[in-house]
Amino acid sequence: MRVPAVRSARERPAACFLLLLVALPGLAACSGTQSALDPHGPVADSIATTWWVLFWGAGAILALVMGLVLYAMFRDPERKARLPHLPFLVGAGLVFPTLVLTALVVFGTLVGRDITRASDDALVIEVTGHQWWWEVRYPATADAPEVVTANELHLPVGVPVEFVIESADVVHSFWIPNLGGKVDMIPGRSNTLRLEASRPGRFRAQCAEFCGAQHSRMGFIAIATEADEFERWRRARAVAPDASGPGLARFDALGCSGCHALGGRPAEGGTGPVLAHFAERPTVGAGAAANTPGALRAWLADHGARMKPGSLGPAQRRLDDADVEAIARLLEQQR
Ligand code: CUA
Repeated sequence: MRVPAVRSARERPAACFLLLLVALPGLAACSGTQSALDPHGPVADSIATTWWVLFWGAGAILALVMGLVLYAMFRDPERKARLPHLPFLVGAGLVFPTLVLTALVVFGTLVGRDITRASDDALVIEVTGHQWWWEVRYPATADAPEVVTANELHLPVGVPVEFVIESADVVHSFWIPNLGGKVDMIPGRSNTLRLEASRPGRFRAQCAEFCGAQHSRMGFIAIATEADEFERWRRARAVAPDASGPGLARFDALGCSGCHALGGRPAEGGTGPVLAHFAERPTVGAGAAANTPGALRAWLADHGARMKPGSLGPAQRRLDDADVEAIARLLEQQR
C-alpha cells in the first residue's frame, strides 16, 4: 500500500494526531491472561485505574495542545490574536500544570497506600528466581505442612497473599500482570509484594527484568482457585507421589537426582527444580512450552538445550530414546 507523503511541516502534527486516533482501537487487544489492563484483583484494579486515568488525562491534554497548535498554524496572521497573552500564559503555563500535577500526586499517593497495605492474615508464599525458573515455597502453618514446587503458583481467591521475593543468581522481576504490580528479585535481599485474586483464573506470569538469554521464556502460570479448592491442592501437594519403576534407576544413574528432588526424595545437593508432582504443571521448562508428552520428551532429549539454550542445567547431556522414554514415564507418574 502506498502511504501518501506528508507534504508540509503544517500537516505533520495533524497527521500524528490522526495516526494516534487510528491506533486507539488497538487497546481493545489489551485483555487476556497476561495483561495489566485485564485486572483480576484489588491491587490490579488500582493499577489499571491509574493507567486509564493517566491515559485519558494525557489524551485530553494532548488534544488540547494539538488544538492550540492547529489554531496557531491556521489562524489568519493578519488578524490580532484573540487570546489575551498574559492571563493565558499564567493560566495555561502555571496554574493548569500545578493543578494537574498536584491532583496526580494526591491520586498516586492514595493508590500507592492502597496497594502496599499489609494484612495480618495474609498467606505467605516465598518465590525465588533462578536462571531461568521459579522456586515456589509455601511455608508450614499451624494446620498445613510445607509445600515446595516450581514453575507454577496456586493461590486462593479472596485471600491476601504476601509474596517474599528473592533471587539465587541475577536480578529477575516477579510479575503477574493480571493480579498486580511487579517487584525485583535481588540476590541477597528479600522484597515483599502483596497481591490478591478476586476471582478464579489462570494467569501467565513473566519475568520483567532482563536476566539473560532466556529472560523472555522465564514465565509460569498462576492459578487462582476458591479457598477450599486451594486447601485441597495444598494438602495433596504435601503427599509425595509414587516414584518407582525402571525410570527411577535411570534417573539416579544419569545423575538427575543430584539436582532434582522427586517423589518424596530430596535432591542430593544441586539446585534444579523439584520434580515431584511435575505431571500436574501447566508448562515444561518454566513457560518454555505447554506440558505435553511431546514437549516433555523434546526437553529430555537434550535437557532443554534447544528449548531453552543457556540454562544452567547440564545442557550438553543427550539421552538416547530409551532413556528419554523411561524418564518421561517417571515424570508423568509424578501426580
Ligand atoms: Cu528472569 Cu528476566
